Amino acid sequence: MELLEHLKWRYATKTFDPNLKVSEEDMEKLKEAIQLSVSSYGLQLYKVLVISSQGLKEELKTASWNQDQITDASHLFVFCNYTERKDEDVDAYIQSISQIQGTPVDKLEGYGNLIKRSLVEMDDATWISWSEKQTYLAMSTLLMACAELRIDACPMEGYQVERYNEILGLDQQGLNASVIVPVGYRSQEDHTQFRKKVRKPLHELFETL
Ligand SMILES: Cc1cc2nc3c(=O)[nH]c(=O)nc-3n(C[C@H](O)[C@H](O)[C@H](O)COP(=O)(O)O)c2cc1C
Repeated sequence: MELLEHLKWRYATKTFDPNLKVSEEDMEKLKEAIQLSVSSYGLQLYKVLVISSQGLKEELKTASWNQDQITDASHLFVFCNYTERKDEDVDAYIQSISQIQGTPVDKLEGYGNLIKRSLVEMDDATWISWSEKQTYLAMSTLLMACAELRIDACPMEGYQVERYNEILGLDQQGLNASVIVPVGYRSQEDHTQFRKKVRKPLHELFETL
């Protein structure tokens, strides 16, 4: 199974080589992998910013505890969850299903209502957590796609969310910077690449019932 080899190859890259850039062709593949990611109901209530501007990366680094990955990586993915739950987003999704799969909208009304109800019934904390979880699924797909293409990446929560939201003007768009992933190519100086993986043993991680 090749995926296991990819997963063994990857590591949370601490130092990127700032001279190496991911090609446009590979960036398109990464975006497509994210697009194909799973999401609850298929709703995809998030947006993904892809930042290549060095100036913007410099500014974001100041909101990321000055971690070098932000500026040295080729591109920075910022996964942004929706902060509001709106019926119109569900309606737009139902329209897409209808157009793409050729099902009449009235046949999908019940499904749309079920989704709307399930979103409305969540209390605020549950909604925020649910909404952020969606972005983590997409982030995980990105990490696997990167590994297959031998592109290095580092999932990161070590940044100031409010400052990201401010710098990127996310509040006004009903978005929130949920998790970020710089991608690029490892520096040969990054000694963490040689560390053995630390993972729980299978017998501890799994229980067969
Ligand atoms: C959601 C999430 C947030 C993380 N935040 C950071 C971070 O801010 N900085 C960092 O250097 N590594 C970060 N990591 C990397 C983890 O520490 C790393 O994935 C873990 O130790 C396992 O090591 P490996 O990915 O090299 O196999 C994060 C990982 C995840 C999944």
